Amino acid sequence: MCGIFGFIGKGNIQDIVRKGLQTLEYRGYDSCGYALLSDSGLKVEKKIGKGKIEELTSSLPINGSHRLRIISHTRWATHGRVTQENAHPQLDCAREIALVHNGIIENYKAIKESLEQEGHRFISETDTEVITHLIEKYIKRYEFEEAVKKALTELRGSFAVVVMWVNAGKVIAACKHSPLAIGIAGDNFFVASDAMAFLKYTKKVIFLEDEEMAVIDRGVDILPFGKNRKREKVFQEISMEPGKIEKGDFPHFMLKEIFEQPTVVKSTARHILNSLFFANTPPRIIKEVERIILVGCGTSWHAGLLGEYMIEELSGVPVEVEYASEFRYRNPVLSERDLVIAISQSGETADTLAALREAKKKCNVFAICNVPGSSMDRISDYVLYTKAGPEIGVASTKAFTAQLTVLYLFALYLAREKERISQQVIDIHIKELQNIPAKMEMILGRSKEIENISQYFLGKNNALYLGRGFQFPIALEGALKLKEVSYIHAEGYPAAEMKHGPIALVDQEMPVVFIAVQDSSYQKIMGNVEEVKARGGFIIALVNDEDREVKKIADMVIPVPETSQYIMPLLTVIPLQLLAYYTALKRGCDVDKPRNLAKSVTVE
Ligand code: M6R
Repeated sequence: MCGIFGFIGKGNIQDIVRKGLQTLEYRGYDSCGYALLSDSGLKVEKKIGKGKIEELTSSLPINGSHRLRIISHTRWATHGRVTQENAHPQLDCAREIALVHNGIIENYKAIKESLEQEGHRFISETDTEVITHLIEKYIKRYEFEEAVKKALTELRGSFAVVVMWVNAGKVIAACKHSPLAIGIAGDNFFVASDAMAFLKYTKKVIFLEDEEMAVIDRGVDILPFGKNRKREKVFQEISMEPGKIEKGDFPHFMLKEIFEQPTVVKSTARHILNSLFFANTPPRIIKEVERIILVGCGTSWHAGLLGEYMIEELSGVPVEVEYASEFRYRNPVLSERDLVIAISQSGETADTLAALREAKKKCNVFAICNVPGSSMDRISDYVLYTKAGPEIGVASTKAFTAQLTVLYLFALYLAREKERISQQVIDIHIKELQNIPAKMEMILGRSKEIENISQYFLGKNNALYLGRGFQFPIALEGALKLKEVSYIHAEGYPAAEMKHGPIALVDQEMPVVFIAVQDSSYQKIMGNVEEVKARGGFIIALVNDEDREVKKIADMVIPVPETSQYIMPLLTVIPLQLLAYYTALKRGCDVDKPRNLAKSVTVE
């Protein structure tokens, strides 16, 4: 789940590599490193710990009058702890081959054992190191390209690798089930896990396909290393814009992104209305679809749960929601009239991508995705883009509300196509959605009150989040936000389920957050609030401005404006995001880069 960045050419490589790696830091940030090949040989540098890219790259030349080759890496540890030895690039015994890797080599233990018997000495605990030693083994008998090819065909699992050898002027990049993009700008070449890392310099890109390798020197050759046939090398012009990654006046990306939500909902709604409702080319499957399966992970999976409520209620089309990681391995029964929709901010989450690939063999696949040009964007039959802009904070916030906006409009569109609701009713729904940004602003205007409430969480070890109906997924999302950024253990539950176990945990030491807005579950959840109160629980309740009942019982309340129950989650999630943010901040946590996490989970 790491970021790879390589450059072959002339220029200020300190700046090029620094910016490239910083753009890729969302993929992992526990250590970083580079290998530089110049006339004076191979230079390898590594740094351990978060936020070390600037320090690492300060040893790189600024004046780029010579043609250089550099490969670099920002790591999210899978095999082996965060140590100097385990950071990339990994080297062979002779320290002549340097390689960076993203992915997991499943059969690395067997390969390592046999290479050790042949005399290779390993210094890291990584799966990656077997690749360098395998290439070292073959390079004694074969040309560089051939040796790399031979090594790669022995690997099982998913990988993107970029490798250099001191005796060859070229750099080889290769991938299988893990993305790699090659960029060209005149005589200069880039290779990266995400084209965004070099978009500032060029928009001419080739995305490597599975089991392909690119040999980069003064030009690029694309060769298969697996069963693929050799393909024509065609650089495409991509329309992505290098996203602005600045915090502006905000202390953290997470806070900035929470505050961007009114704008994000507006632009996402505008985009979906234009592309889905007003375009004349809706995919035919929409009229014929008999079942929808929504797949995703983490926050995107929570969006899927809400999508299920919206789509089933509005369009009557049955929906199933699955964790992508489970769906991909359970050989799901799918027919031609099924539609699988992957939900993903990054478009690169390994499990969601694999689920999409699996589904594509049997039915149509769509994606709801925030990153044009991402792997999911490229393999889907149709993409509904969220217009959230780059989301940098590891905790997903604005991408979630953008996903809900898309799902809501998609549900309405489907309802229209299935002749379940009239245009007049759709217009009422859309009008209500258009009022959401202003209501979001009202909640954001109350952030100081939420910051005060977060004080209560400081010494706590556990929290329970409860909601019903449309607010149950929000309870899950609120709990996920709190745990991932503040490290307080939090559980989200359907409020009525509480009696079947979690109620045993209730005491003064565990805050219970109720999402008790006035929707069709209001009377029911009132009963659950009473049950917790009767057991001495400490209640923090999200209520509507007009609420009278819950306000009397709860210890603390957070008011939110009213709207229809379908889009109330767009409002109720915001105080929970803020609560997590302020709690984490007060506990001294790194909110934008929480420990052990990465923004994009590109390994399974
Ligand atoms: O990029 P994706 O939406 O596919 O990512 C899915 C999850 O990894 C992501 O939502 C994760 O759970 C976030 N850290 C949640 O804040």
